Amino acid sequence: MKKIEVNTKERKYTIHLGCGALNEAAAVVDELCKSKSVFIITDSGVPERWVDALAEQLGKPPVFVFEQGEASKNIEIYGEILAWLAEQKATRKSLVVALGGGVTGDMAGFAAATYMRGIEYVNIPTTSLSQIDSSVGGKTAIDHGGIKNIVGAFHQPSAVIVDPEVLGTLSERERNNGLVEAVKAGLIGDGELFELFEHDDYMDHIEEIIERALLVKKRIVEEDEHESNLRKVLNFGHTFGHAYESYFGGRYLHGECVAMDMMTVTEDEEKKTRLSAVLRRLGLPETPEEEADSEKLANLIMNDKKSGRGSVDLVRVREIGTAVIETTGMEEIRKMLK
Ligand SMILES: NC(=O)c1ccc[n+]([C@@H]2O[C@H](COP(=O)([O-])OP(=O)(O)OC[C@H]3O[C@@H](n4cnc5c(N)ncnc54)[C@H](O)[C@@H]3O)[C@@H](O)[C@H]2O)c1
Ligand SMILES: [Zn+2]
Repeated sequence: MKKIEVNTKERKYTIHLGCGALNEAAAVVDELCKSKSVFIITDSGVPERWVDALAEQLGKPPVFVFEQGEASKNIEIYGEILAWLAEQKATRKSLVVALGGGVTGDMAGFAAATYMRGIEYVNIPTTSLSQIDSSVGGKTAIDHGGIKNIVGAFHQPSAVIVDPEVLGTLSERERNNGLVEAVKAGLIGDGELFELFEHDDYMDHIEEIIERALLVKKRIVEEDEHESNLRKVLNFGHTFGHAYESYFGGRYLHGECVAMDMMTVTEDEEKKTRLSAVLRRLGLPETPEEEADSEKLANLIMNDKKSGRGSVDLVRVREIGTAVIETTGMEEIRKMLK
């Protein structure tokens, strides 16, 4: 088992990474939670075999299962989880274990961040997106009033357990959707990681891919825990990506929108060719199937919380493996959309 130490101001914690890591969760949890008061939170789409494998080891603690999907990341279910924790007599010394994708991690993480002003949680991400991206960084949130992640908190996990084997039950589309975040991590911070995707046998290197992507994220998050500046480079692929996501409303998965964004902002022909080959290998779209109204997309970008008034902090990759943030005027953005 590999151990990656993450040092944030809030706390230091370990990411335990390796095939079979899920079967060693009890050792991690027992070490963290001397009171043995453990609560599993998961969603209905996480295959039972993974829930059972975890629950058995932990001596069958109470399990809260909510309906899978982004629509569940709401204040009602959040409230139900808090009420359930109180009903189950969870105390300040209890430990929440999140088992699932980014939705479960965000939801259980936010419940842990706020229950009794904050209790510890362990994140066990089970999708490629959550293993590569959302489980590290300490951002937790729910959606409200039609706005994604509008209510949340920074709350670092006490440990993260990443087992690439659990990805075996994901569909290929879902799996590759998350792998885009590793392609992104390669482009902004690790050229060799990007190169792993330039070969057909990339899935033989899945553990290395996850590890390298996590190391890129760790480095950036440690330097900029609360997203003042440097952490913005993680938004590479997400400026146009978020706009495509809202515009096409559910037709494309998040990672597919990130893929199309990366193609939109990459201008250099040689890099564009390399990126395009990688995206094709992963079965990901390079441009939207249907012509989009560029004015509407530009407005969506302007209204996105990450943009300033008449300009956008756009992350660009000039050399594979390093990113720069460039303040880009809306005129330029419109040109790129055409
Ligand atoms: N906190 C952060 O820093 C951060 C970063 C990126 C994304 N996010 C959030 O993550 C969420 C998206 O995460 P996601 O893509 O993991 O989606 P998800 O959590 O909805 O998971 C996708 C689907 O896969 C199912 N599933 C989970 N594990 C499985 C497995 N091993 N086998 C088969 N099916 C499985 C889930 O039940 C769900 O239906 C969004 O809400 C997004 O806002 C958070
Ligand atoms: Zn993303």
